[in-house]
Amino acid sequence: MLVLGIETSCDETAAALVTDKREICANVVLSQLDEHAPYGGIVPEIAARSHIEHLDGVIARAMKEAGADFNDLDGVAATAGPGLIGAVMVGLMTGKAVAAVHGVPLAAVNHLEGHALSARLSDAELRFPYLLLLVSGGHCQFLTVKGVGRYQRLGTTIDDAAGEAFDKAAKLLGLGYPGGPAIERAAQDSDGARYDLPRPLKGRKGCDFSFSGLKTALLHKVRALENGLDDVIRSDLAASFQQAVADVVIDRGQNAIRQFQALHPDGCSLVAAGGVAANSMLRARLKNLATENGLTLAVPPLTLCTDNAAMIAWAGIERLGLGLEDNLNAVPRARWPLDGDALPPPGVGKSGKLGPKA
Ligand code: KG4
Ligand code: ZN
Repeated sequence: MLVLGIETSCDETAAALVTDKREICANVVLSQLDEHAPYGGIVPEIAARSHIEHLDGVIARAMKEAGADFNDLDGVAATAGPGLIGAVMVGLMTGKAVAAVHGVPLAAVNHLEGHALSARLSDAELRFPYLLLLVSGGHCQFLTVKGVGRYQRLGTTIDDAAGEAFDKAAKLLGLGYPGGPAIERAAQDSDGARYDLPRPLKGRKGCDFSFSGLKTALLHKVRALENGLDDVIRSDLAASFQQAVADVVIDRGQNAIRQFQALHPDGCSLVAAGGVAANSMLRARLKNLATENGLTLAVPPLTLCTDNAAMIAWAGIERLGLGLEDNLNAVPRARWPLDGDALPPPGVGKSGKLGPKA
């Protein structure tokens, strides 16, 4: 079974060809970073227009790299949300067009499900149920993955996602975008104990996250510098920040594992997915955490952690394999929680504002 995956939910235009034997025949990712850089963040309208301009070419390149033809396809999987709505529409409509023209089934994939199942693409041994730490630019949650389409959220962030915190911290330190890789580079061989930063929610029960206080504390540290930032201070602040994030994730992770093991004594894997799972310090700490708790850590390779279309193709393969085909009425969705039944985290909405649902 050969499936074309299409991913356009944010600022990467991506296409991939993957088989049900877990062969990644092509995995093309075109980043729009340069187009958004002058604005200091992602501009949704520019993202959508850029996807329109480049998606055809990215698909053609993936086809060529895989040595495949549209007639070879057994299915198309396109991200249908959550994400920037204009951006999602481009990929989903293109996926529908390919499916309709070539008479193959369509899978309208939840981008988060792509991340959630990505470790099963790289690890054939990974069995349900598993505990998932989904850490990306827009999401930071612990979920139990009971099966394809079967997710239970155990905890989530009450404010910023971890990747968002990395991005904001990097901006503050003048390290550029995306912040995660920039902070990781700057933090290498630097002193992560030099600056005392808070560990929000550490020691509290449950496995929700909060990162906005950490970001504000970093801002105060920068403002308090008498002679401003220099390279050593910048690197030590980056290392201290990364250390604080990792401490929080491990503390929350311990509680999540306890909950998971109570719910699923048969579960034996902790999976980390999403862009922030590319962080090597976090990976190392998660590996220790998993081992201490009798679990095995599964983390996809870096190319499958950050946004890509191979994980979307794989989620499509898993869904189509179970007969979960979508029709051409599938709608693009800006918001689409993996666990639609999850209650909002504590504290969200208390100010009268509507909090994030996922
Ligand atoms: O999964 P992803 O590519 O896109 C979303 O669905 O959000 O994640 C992007 C996020 C960005 O916030 C980026 O700063 C972060 O992942 N990231 C990292 C690293 N690489 C990417 N964060 C920490 N360390 C990294 N090495
Ligand atoms: Zn993502």
